[in-house]
Amino acid sequence: GTGRTAKLKIFRGDASGGEEVEYEIPLVEGMVVLDAVLYIQAHHANDLAVRWNCKAAHCGSCSAEINGIPRLMCKTRVEEFEGKEIHVGPMRAFPVIKDLVSDVSWNYEVSSRITPFTTSQKAPFTMYEEDVERLYEPKKCIECFMCQDVCHVLRTHHKHPEFAGPRFFVRNQWLEMHPLDEADRLGDLKEKNGIGYCNITKCCTEVCPVGIKITDNSIIPLKERVADEYYDPARWLMRKIQGR
Ligand code: SF4
Ligand code: F3S
Ligand code: FES
Repeated sequence: GTGRTAKLKIFRGDASGGEEVEYEIPLVEGMVVLDAVLYIQAHHANDLAVRWNCKAAHCGSCSAEINGIPRLMCKTRVEEFEGKEIHVGPMRAFPVIKDLVSDVSWNYEVSSRITPFTTSQKAPFTMYEEDVERLYEPKKCIECFMCQDVCHVLRTHHKHPEFAGPRFFVRNQWLEMHPLDEADRLGDLKEKNGIGYCNITKCCTEVCPVGIKITDNSIIPLKERVADEYYDPARWLMRKIQGR
């Protein structure tokens, strides 16, 4: 130990409400917020609800809000907050189940309404190196849903049914960029997935723990394609003639 201590204020409660409770723990050099929370669970509050799995920033389970900003608890060092208060709470854009755990199941519903990978080609497939490289970034997503939590369209304006959110624009972009995929998702992006609600605040990109450039590499290219398809007068006329 370091002989020093750290104080954490942790939200205790559920959907009906709750309050922050302060806990003091021995500060171990290099410890992360998840270590501190698990120490509290072991020594002070056995009933403290927290979700985690890998402790290595891979599984995306330990997302929480630390001082109001979504972070992975297993990737955030306690010492980063030396001399400051540390507030830990659940992700607020989703319903709180208990303490640090919120119900992220809405995200799986959104995922299921995205047209899956569709191809008429038969294996073996040929893929070019540059395609493989472009497809690598969106595939890095660990589904921590922190980008969903921070986006004001969901967090403040609660557009949950009609806005899919940044994580699912990343997923759409992966599918749309895939050279073998033949499905068209632009209509859904405009209508049921509400890409027009995004006003490019880039908060999603800032919190992504794996460094996906969500806004520049997924959202903006998709917005441009939707604009070309739906707001270009020549295409609009074509759609009218073809009746779609
Ligand atoms: Fe998390 Fe980044 Fe995936 Fe969003 S895009 S869910 S922030 S890993
Ligand atoms: Fe939201 Fe990201 Fe757009 S935070 S508003 S989806 S750029
Ligand atoms: Fe897996 Fe933190 S415990 S990402």
